[in-house]
Amino acid sequence: MNIIKAKGYDEMSKMAAAIIAAQALRKPASVFGFATGSTPVGTYRELVRLFGEGLVDFSRAVTFNLDEYAGCPASDPNSYVAFMRGNLFDKANFKASYLPDGMAPNPAAECLRYEKAITEAEGIDLQLLGIGHNGHIGFNEPDDHFAFATQHIKLTDSTIDANARFYNSRDEVPKYALSMGIGTIMNARGILMLISGADKREIAEKALHGPVTPRVPASILQMHPDVTVILAVD
Ligand code: PGA
Repeated sequence: MNIIKAKGYDEMSKMAAAIIAAQALRKPASVFGFATGSTPVGTYRELVRLFGEGLVDFSRAVTFNLDEYAGCPASDPNSYVAFMRGNLFDKANFKASYLPDGMAPNPAAECLRYEKAITEAEGIDLQLLGIGHNGHIGFNEPDDHFAFATQHIKLTDSTIDANARFYNSRDEVPKYALSMGIGTIMNARGILMLISGADKREIAEKALHGPVTPRVPASILQMHPDVTVILAVD
């Protein structure tokens, strides 16, 4: 693992955007894996700036997001597709961008379709990740096994609590999601993980230096051959 310490959120975001832009410059037809949450917002802002200044072009790049809430239409501002459009897709020129369809009538079939679409795109070149306080990546919650592929997931209470900040009440927070599996993420050729905030210091220590266990899903990244982590936890 290549672990970089950033001086704060802004520096972390600039470094992350530089790595993503470099990937697009090196391989214009890159396949990116993107993430939602508060952590990558600054990275997307920086990418939009680099794009606006003509320093990077995404017109041949394709993106797949980690996850989407089940039962959440694109018209819902809390949907991850709305988040991605607002923060990045409407402001840069990606060739095509995909998320799991949260409104698919058969979520299991949608998970299979999504996994197949990633394979048909020849896999992900660079997967961007945040980390949950419980060590989740995507919506792969602590469990007794690592999820192999994209799946329909029941969210844990701690994740529902963390997501409640975006809703009027906890009851409104979606309870299920469609998420790439740990196997899907580990198949990415490169991984860029961002960890920001003093409240993430403890889980960062466990994920990066503790035992590899599905109880801390992100710990599996220790086994991946090409991971860069940018830490801004002081
Ligand atoms: P956050 O979420 O970036 O909003 O902290 C990260 C995650 O839950 O994966």
